[in-house]
Amino acid sequence: MAAVGSAVGLGNIWRFPYMAGEYGGSSFILVYILCIFLIGLPILCCEFLLGRHSKRNTVNAFKRFHREYATPAWWQIIGWMGMAAGVLILSFYSVIGGWVIHYMLQAISDSFASAGKEAVGTMFTELIQNPASLIVWHTLFMILVIVTLSFGVRNGIERVAKYFMPLLLLLMLTLIAYNIKNGGMSETLSFMFEFDASQISAQTILVALGQAFFSLSIGMGAMMVYGSYLGGSRPLIGTTLTVVIADTSIAILSGLAIFPILFVMAIEPTQGPGLIFTALPLAIGQIPGSAIFGTAFFFLLLIAAWTSAISLLEPLIAWCIENLTWSRVFTCWVCGSVVWLLGLVTVFSFNEWAHIKFFGKTLFGLLDFLTSNIMLPLGGLLIIVFAGWVLPRAVMRKEVGIQNNFAYKIWQIVVRYVCPLAVLLIFIEGIFG
Ligand code: TRP
Repeated sequence: MAAVGSAVGLGNIWRFPYMAGEYGGSSFILVYILCIFLIGLPILCCEFLLGRHSKRNTVNAFKRFHREYATPAWWQIIGWMGMAAGVLILSFYSVIGGWVIHYMLQAISDSFASAGKEAVGTMFTELIQNPASLIVWHTLFMILVIVTLSFGVRNGIERVAKYFMPLLLLLMLTLIAYNIKNGGMSETLSFMFEFDASQISAQTILVALGQAFFSLSIGMGAMMVYGSYLGGSRPLIGTTLTVVIADTSIAILSGLAIFPILFVMAIEPTQGPGLIFTALPLAIGQIPGSAIFGTAFFFLLLIAAWTSAISLLEPLIAWCIENLTWSRVFTCWVCGSVVWLLGLVTVFSFNEWAHIKFFGKTLFGLLDFLTSNIMLPLGGLLIIVFAGWVLPRAVMRKEVGIQNNFAYKIWQIVVRYVCPLAVLLIFIEGIFG
């Protein structure tokens, strides 16, 4: 459940719709789903098994494999790169988490009630153009993350995920029901599921792959750390399937909750990171009891973002505590402050530094591209090659827990050939193609 909490977050509800909107809807979504099952699922399972088998943080896990199985020591690089990716992702994740806090407070004062397209648009522009308030919300979000991390992640998170995730699901279903009544659903279904091969480019495939990694929280060792906290010898394939199915359903549902609003209100789906913040308030404002519904929705989204954010920093924290013997509380404040400082880059990229662009991307866009589309796939590739080719085969067999010989053979082919080759190809095509 804690792993589900890590996977389900802003990636599903904020990032998925705007990426799908920007990269052509159905083609993106189809490639995304293929990436989830052919690439994401095996890598997630390998992360769990490397974690559970080593019972160590992401760097020490590879040191332990080096001692026990004489695997080359340089595989530790996975741990180092992962910690860096986690810090970079959290730095912008926290700024967006801050937007969610701001919107929750707006909902409490019922600002969305019957608000029109203009008003909602202005609300968003005013927010992102004001660095001072962005910093306040970013700081609040980081404090929330630091304080909970300093108590240790293992308690609490699981319970939070168990009770709040179903509630979030319920509110999403309510929004979808509202959309069915209000129109835009048939356009949405064809936008999301009517496949058009001409829309697919190497870039779309790379971005869909990046979204799959981001959404499942894989490629940087976060799920390895959660695996290292797992005891017992239950088949990991079951745990993996639970996370994959929960995460993918929430993403698809969030598409069904957001796209119809865009069609009815004639909003472009290509406007980028502000998409859900300009669409959702329009629908929420129409629902009777908009203050309560809106507050509950953004509160639950905040909880989802928070249980994800925690997993982004935990690998670094686990490393500092175990290797530098710092106290947990001190570690959390030091690491959290570094992330906070880096977050200022994202804050200013929406206003003071909005004109600074490389390859047509703002600093935030660049940070997001570098982490999701380069660092995570690279980390995932190394993880699956290590698990499939370097680690003794018996370990994988025992941990994954697929009993049927034929099914296991297929699993092996996917892990050793299909998945690494697919990542490599997409990566090379997307970057250099
Ligand atoms: N998966 C989370 C989301 O969808 C974000 C996240 C948490 C993440 N931990 C991660 C992304 C590790 C990449 C790597 O919001």
